[in-house]
Amino acid sequence: MDYLKIVGNKKLSGEISISGAKNAALPLIACTILAKNETTINNLPNVADINTFLKLIKMLGGSFTKEKNSATIDTSTIDNTTATYDIVKTMRASILVLGPLLARFGHCEVSLPGGCAIGQRPVDLHLKALEQMGAKIEILQGYIKATAPNGLKGAKIVFDKVTVGGTENTVMAAALASGVTTIINAAKEPEIVQLCEVIASAGVKIEGIGTSKIIIEGTGGKLLDIKPFSVIPDRIEAGTYMCAAAITNQKLTIKDIVPAHLEAITSKLEEMNFEIDIKENELTIFPTSKILPVNIITTEFPGFPTDMQAQFMALATQAEGTSTIDERLFENRFMHASELSRLGAEIHINGNIATILGKKGSLTGTDVMATDLRASSALVLAALVASGETNIHRIYHLDRGYEDLEGKLLKIGADVKRLKES
Ligand code: UD1
Repeated sequence: MDYLKIVGNKKLSGEISISGAKNAALPLIACTILAKNETTINNLPNVADINTFLKLIKMLGGSFTKEKNSATIDTSTIDNTTATYDIVKTMRASILVLGPLLARFGHCEVSLPGGCAIGQRPVDLHLKALEQMGAKIEILQGYIKATAPNGLKGAKIVFDKVTVGGTENTVMAAALASGVTTIINAAKEPEIVQLCEVIASAGVKIEGIGTSKIIIEGTGGKLLDIKPFSVIPDRIEAGTYMCAAAITNQKLTIKDIVPAHLEAITSKLEEMNFEIDIKENELTIFPTSKILPVNIITTEFPGFPTDMQAQFMALATQAEGTSTIDERLFENRFMHASELSRLGAEIHINGNIATILGKKGSLTGTDVMATDLRASSALVLAALVASGETNIHRIYHLDRGYEDLEGKLLKIGADVKRLKES
């Protein structure tokens, strides 16, 4: 297993280029199950979760060729509709094959994802939506067994809660259903916008893309002709490097981004007293004389993303004053707080609210353990300003979602090494 050794307080400068969005790429790979032709996806992030999803496509009987940042996927040979526990347990996003497999083959079996490090994460809303579209669903021996022998039918789906994965599964299922599906209270994340745009450019009529009401006219089983496309930039990777500039209080330019996807993050950094110069597809963050505390509530897009909460907690340790973070989406998403405390941070947790007593220069390097993907990036950020050496263990979590993290940090002047546990 690898770990990262970071020596803090180095002078950072220069530019970081942002990779394609993991959370956009995963549903887009699932969406190739709806295609009759080979699908080429460019600007794929070179991260473990993408390789795992491609492996899942292969386990189903599909094939792919992959270069560093692109893949051509052929799902015409799929002859197995079971996503097994072995793969789903390594990547919850495997649930995204449920909608497309059911829509195309009329049956499938997907292992229940179960809970994870950040909470219970049920998939009841995915299942309810598919049932409303005519699927019969049973849970047997830990597997979701879904059938729709006569195909899925368009329906009106009102989500009780805004769900990213639930909206994605429903959009993909609706694309091949017969008739019109209306999704009310749909998620509006940029990743969903891209999924809808790719499906729409393959000839499916979709209205309301990017709004909470999406209307999809299904093809009635006709497979799609998906043209080559490029994955949108990763707004969470961009936000993480924006926090790297902020926590070290140095000037950095973040390139290859869509600024409109980053508004909640830029506005919180501005509240913390950072000046940000925003151009068409890059932005520069400037050092500030005083980092101010901040209050954050995580919510759905366009609000502040839960996937940036841990990084802002690390940043808040360097603010002059008390910050609060109210985590509204996942019930157990403060595992990083105790690891940040091991570095010297003063953080109090009360239910879903974290209070961070910030103090510049308060962190000292030591050994810490990554617990989930974004928690790991918070530890990397903290290590960049901790005095001395920080060893971050279990970084396989980071490798799931950050392309070439060490390379990108080294390029801007950080002292970071990937080493093998003895
Ligand atoms: C996606 C992202 C994840 C991000 C999250 C919220 C991917 C691969 N993952 O996860 O990085 O943190 O959105 O922005 O894109 N819920 C239910 N029942 C369901 C589905 C969800 O109760 O059937 C609840 C969840 O427990 C959570 C909330 O709804 O409290 C939002 O979850 P959801 O948007 O579905 O998250 P994911 O799609 O799993």
